[in-house]
Amino acid sequence: MTVAVSIGLLLCQWFGPGEGLIPSELYPAGWPARQYPTVLHKAIVDGVSSNEIPDGLMIAHDTLTTAFGVLLASSNGSTADEIAEAMTVLSKVTGIANTELSHLKPVSDKFKESSYTGVYVPPQLYIRADYADKIRDMGVDLVPSLPNSTIESLSDKLSTISNDLKDTTSSDDLPYILDRQPEVFVVTAASFKAVWADADFHNENRRMREFNVDERRRTFVDTLYSLPKQRHIAHLHKLRATMLLLPLKYSRVKFMVILPDRINGLHQMEKELEFVDLRSLLGVKMDHGRYDVRLPVMNIVTNIELADNLGFLGIRKVFNPKQADLSRITGQKQRLRVRRFPHLTHFELNEQGINFRNFEIQTRVRHDGETHNHFYASHPFFFALVDEYKVYATGRYGQLTVDPDDIKGKGMRSSS
Ligand SMILES: *[C@@H]1O[C@H](CO)[C@@H](O)[C@H](O)[C@H]1NC(C)=O
Ligand SMILES: *[C@@H]1O[C@H](CO)[C@@H](O)[C@H](O)[C@H]1NC(C)=O
Repeated sequence: MTVAVSIGLLLCQWFGPGEGLIPSELYPAGWPARQYPTVLHKAIVDGVSSNEIPDGLMIAHDTLTTAFGVLLASSNGSTADEIAEAMTVLSKVTGIANTELSHLKPVSDKFKESSYTGVYVPPQLYIRADYADKIRDMGVDLVPSLPNSTIESLSDKLSTISNDLKDTTSSDDLPYILDRQPEVFVVTAASFKAVWADADFHNENRRMREFNVDERRRTFVDTLYSLPKQRHIAHLHKLRATMLLLPLKYSRVKFMVILPDRINGLHQMEKELEFVDLRSLLGVKMDHGRYDVRLPVMNIVTNIELADNLGFLGIRKVFNPKQADLSRITGQKQRLRVRRFPHLTHFELNEQGINFRNFEIQTRVRHDGETHNHFYASHPFFFALVDEYKVYATGRYGQLTVDPDDIKGKGMRSSS
């Protein structure tokens, strides 16, 4: 209760006049609306932290929206009600129903998204023609799984999204025999590709730098560096964090980094972000000082099982063998559920951009002199790909697995 009240107060200040933020609708009284992309982000990262500890993760929002659409189109009764309710929040907040032309990214925009959504069913399952049409109209691959070929073809499809995703699914995920596996496998995968507009990272400035995993543990990570220059940086006082926006070449999409002031501030910040519309942050007043920038090189493969992880959104029955009603697939009520629902993404960030490798590019190192302003992402942070209409992806970096030898830092060991 105390926590809820203080977050409430915090946000009342946050959304006060003069901040340049778009106020959200109130919820319930005097409470800003929760924002679907950041609520989804928070729920997923929370679910993951209890299982494994990757370097970071990235969630691609469009492909998940499509997959929720598949779950809805497949289910009936209270199973469908749960999904519809979760999606109502989604359409209200992210404006997926918004087809205004100005909101669509122009074809000339060089920010590229590749995504794949597939629904795999036992080959003996009778599928209504209406259902098959509907699923295919959504751009989703509907496939009866055959033991001799389907896993290879799925692997090929995933490798077109990213070669690093090729082997993320296994034959055990697919249902081959209806009697033994009355289940549906839904898989979502995505990656993004873009080149920096003017980030000015240079290959020759790449170094191993300290990274604070938390207040006590520290390791070294490969780090990008860019010399001082004018940036899109803003201190977000109410979030107790600093935001850096890096523009992408020939695109309106921005790479957003939100670095908490405190080394272990990410967890609390992600809680508060549930009430923040990331798109509105693009409009905050920027500090026009010159900053140099350090960002870790990232190479994150995310493989999250969402079937255990959507309870937060109220989506539960569709995964439950006793309660699931997937009768819209066949037109009959029968034992059938979604057993596995993985979300797969690959996110690689380097001197050139995102999921883009071309070390041939030679850039001139410009030196504009020293600065006292630094943006060093040397402890866990939140990141997003966002334009003023849409949140494409959210992620976090820095939940690193630390080698016990690294705990005190390599510098200290070598000096002893
Ligand atoms: C896989 O098996 C099915 C029948 O079980 C057969 O019709 C199909 O041709 C086989 N595909 C390949 C690639 O061997
Ligand atoms: C969905 O549920 C409703 C109400 O229980 C039922 O009338 C309808 O036939 C069901 N649809 C399918 C495709 O099973």
